[in-house]
Amino acid sequence: MKLLKNKSGLSGTLTVPADKSISHRSIMFGAISHGKTTIHNFLRAEDCLSTVAVFKALGVTIDDDGEVISIEGKGFKHLQAPQQILDAGNSGTTMRLVLGILAGQTFHSKIAGDASLNRRPMERVMGPLRMMGGNLQGEQGSEFPPIEIEGGPLSAITYEMPIASAQVKSAILFAALQAEGLTTIIEKEKSRNHTEEMIKQFGGNISVEDKTITVSGGQQLVGQEVTVPGDISSAAFYLVAATLLADSDLQLKHVGINPTRTGILDVLQEMGADIQEGSVDSQNQAADLQIKAAPLKAVEIKGEIIPRLIDELPVIALAATQAEGTTVIRDAEELKVKETNRIDATAQELNKLGANIETTEDGLIIHGPTPLHGGTVDSHGDHRIGMMLQIAALLTDDIVELNNPEAINISYPNFFNDLASLI
Ligand code: S3P
Repeated sequence: MKLLKNKSGLSGTLTVPADKSISHRSIMFGAISHGKTTIHNFLRAEDCLSTVAVFKALGVTIDDDGEVISIEGKGFKHLQAPQQILDAGNSGTTMRLVLGILAGQTFHSKIAGDASLNRRPMERVMGPLRMMGGNLQGEQGSEFPPIEIEGGPLSAITYEMPIASAQVKSAILFAALQAEGLTTIIEKEKSRNHTEEMIKQFGGNISVEDKTITVSGGQQLVGQEVTVPGDISSAAFYLVAATLLADSDLQLKHVGINPTRTGILDVLQEMGADIQEGSVDSQNQAADLQIKAAPLKAVEIKGEIIPRLIDELPVIALAATQAEGTTVIRDAEELKVKETNRIDATAQELNKLGANIETTEDGLIIHGPTPLHGGTVDSHGDHRIGMMLQIAALLTDDIVELNNPEAINISYPNFFNDLASLI
């Protein structure tokens, strides 16, 4: 498809779609809690709908009246054996977190994904779950989905995480809630903490001290009313676009600002961006953000900030193509195992449009500023690469064509309409 063109920067007000990570977890917590959970502002995008379908297949009643999602919680003990192979679609979060729930059940199950998800590594989750007594196998002993799970009793572990991953941490936490004893997880770097926050919100006990998390098994969680804030990972595309496009003056409403997710605000502000926080909803960790165009300078991005902006790195790399100097991104090897290899895809596609980006083992080196030009690019079936390329297309007067744009439906089905409303 032909991508949208810039006219005179981005202006107006937009409410970005609901947070994907929190939407997934709100379904999961609703299902494993007792009593009713209602979810306001749930993200109705393909990934989260995969989570809904998986829990319906596990016997959970989930209704959507178009406004609010209602869940009749079953508790961990009354999920039902699925009649078919569970389908996580493209969603790594669905598959990995659900493995932590299925490992402690009394029944056998099998979960598969689409071609991209079936190539993503699962040993990182199956390994610690096996240490807890879980019985999980990839096909023919491989570490890739489809995964067969023979549910059974679990016992607590102490686990030092070799990688910073909220998905791995969350899978262990779901298993720990079903396990005998006290589980301790020591994080490598602090990753998004929505699972820990929701254990508390649903009435559970969890202790978090710096990078050490402890939780006991056998707790009863209770259904809640959840309001999902806007997704800073979707806001990211507008933060970068409004910063780069002259005459922009944009307001984004009710964006999630959980500190484990706001690395992009820190980095863009260090680069020189003009982003102001307006009214704050502290109960839901959300704020309005006001963005005006500003010139950028290069930065170094590495270490503990990486998990706080991991999903935003492709669009941060785009921002760096327009910054003065050389931006270096390190410690981001996890980008290679996302929906596609995002180190390669970012460099390959932006270089087609005139950027000067080198790949390294664990990141990118971006030489800026480089004017961009037209061309034909590809999303690689990855929603965030597709949206980043649409923002890149706003930086040239030439035509940019995007192949495989439908990948964007994974997290943001209304992306092109929303963007068009601001141009
Ligand atoms: C997510 C965690 C991150 C992130 C993904 C969503 C989550 O993955 O990239 O988009 O909701 O827990 P990792 O845990 O693999 O880093």
